Amino acid sequence: MSRRVPAAPFLSGIAFMWFLFMFLSKNHNFDKHSMKTLNRSEVIPQPLTEGSPSLVSPMVIVVCDSVGDKGDIRLLSISKNETDDPDFVKRVQESWSRQAEQLTTMLKTLLYFTKSPLWRIIVMTDTRDTFNKVLNLTTVFPGSRLLLQHRPIWLPRDEPVIKGHWRPCAWAKQFMAEALPDQDSAVYVDTDVLFLGPAEELWWLLHSMGPRQALALAPEPQYLLDTPKRPFAGSVGLNTGVMVANLTRLRQLPGGGLGSAILNSGAITPPPRHDQDALNHYLLHRPHLLLEVTSRWNFSPTCCFLEAPPCADCLSAGILVLHGAGTSFFRFIDRKFLVMYTNLSRLRLGDDPRLLLTKVEGHLSLADYWAHIFPCSNHSGLNHALTLRLADAAMATTLKLPPSA
Ligand SMILES: *[C@@H]1O[C@H](CO)[C@@H](O)[C@H](O)[C@H]1NC(C)=O
Ligand SMILES: *[C@@H]1O[C@H](CO)[C@@H](O)[C@H](O)[C@H]1NC(C)=O
Ligand SMILES: *[C@@H]1O[C@H](CO)[C@@H](O)[C@H](O)[C@H]1NC(C)=O
Ligand SMILES: *[C@@H]1O[C@H](CO)[C@@H](O)[C@H](O)[C@H]1NC(C)=O
Ligand SMILES: *[C@@H]1O[C@H](CO)[C@@H](O)[C@H](O)[C@H]1NC(C)=O
Ligand SMILES: *[C@@H]1O[C@H](CO)[C@@H](O)[C@H](O)[C@H]1NC(C)=O
Repeated sequence: MSRRVPAAPFLSGIAFMWFLFMFLSKNHNFDKHSMKTLNRSEVIPQPLTEGSPSLVSPMVIVVCDSVGDKGDIRLLSISKNETDDPDFVKRVQESWSRQAEQLTTMLKTLLYFTKSPLWRIIVMTDTRDTFNKVLNLTTVFPGSRLLLQHRPIWLPRDEPVIKGHWRPCAWAKQFMAEALPDQDSAVYVDTDVLFLGPAEELWWLLHSMGPRQALALAPEPQYLLDTPKRPFAGSVGLNTGVMVANLTRLRQLPGGGLGSAILNSGAITPPPRHDQDALNHYLLHRPHLLLEVTSRWNFSPTCCFLEAPPCADCLSAGILVLHGAGTSFFRFIDRKFLVMYTNLSRLRLGDDPRLLLTKVEGHLSLADYWAHIFPCSNHSGLNHALTLRLADAAMATTLKLPPSA
């Protein structure tokens, strides 16, 4: 047994050299990318966001679990006729478990990267029971810095556009200004996102808006490829997975909020598939309300399309929010999205960022050896953009290492 003792310092020495090597090569990569692509004027300035910005402007999420909300079932259903489907109830349950797993992973990545001491999150739900379920999920984070507050979702009554087009619950985010009359501003995120860096950076966007701007949104390049063509706002269309909103300004719109203003603005042709289409249609003629930001703030597989606008700050500052749109964290839509999700869903809050970085970088590099058939296969620099903030965290850990290591 005593023969094993000298192995420990030896191995940790090897490990240390490995980390050193990794960081040097990491820095080299960073220089290489930043020399080519860093353009300061495209990078959002960094207003002061010390402390806990969500105490002033809350983070908002929407969670629904009612059987009446058929959207999720439709999404998962292979059969065209859900009412025929013998697995109907099972699918509903699976749908909740998928939502629950994603939400837990999202909150975990929030807590892993953030430096904010406290997080106020308004959880808008269909029922009180759903909120209790969400509370229950957060018991896996003991001594947590999460402060969850409940609000019911707000939807106008008997609204055919909303009832007829996809998930009523998905529309709830468009009615944030109506639902939260006591809040000046908010940062809404879908529950199928991962944070790859400190989430508080999203609050920079709130403070970067011009005097008339009320919404900061990132691109949705899918609109360029849609047939028939649909009206879209911004350079290529906008995604609603992350909505940074000045609610005070949205309440000044006709109808007293964004969702109401969209519905008051008249018929939409072709009819919207969902709230995102309706919002794009609305903003197309009201560009003054919009601060368009890069996909760094909301990166989905479609952001890798050749047609997508370039994202300089993805490389210079790292992707902050990864969006598993269209259940791409669970299906084979893009291999690298699966790598990020599977590895971060198994994360524990105490995990060493250096080990996580090594693991994630390894799996991302392996993915480069696969056939280049996924949307992000040919997106150069993506591995760097996905891991830049994790590398920062790893570096910070190394600098804090006691001499004995
Ligand atoms: C940086 O970006 C701005 C705004 O997009 C553009 O006008 C400028 O030409 C860019 N500079 C370089 C060196 O690419
Ligand atoms: C769907 O299933 C229900 C109940 O079995 C049936 O009444 C209905 O006709 C079906 N609809 C279609 C489009 O097949
Ligand atoms: C809360 O979680 C526990 C165990 O994880 C479970 O037994 C209980 O049913 C849950 N309660 C609700 C309201 O979901
Ligand atoms: C939101 O807009 C209102 C009205 O213009 C303004 O007073 C408030 O400071 C803005 N909120 C933020 C966080 O910038
Ligand atoms: C990381 O992701 C890869 C690819 O999806 C997977 O094979 C591996 O098991 C994951 N590792 C962990 C610890 O989750
Ligand atoms: C990536 O590039 C290779 C080589 O140019 C090409 O064969 C492949 O189709 C491309 N993949 C995608 C998804 O665009």
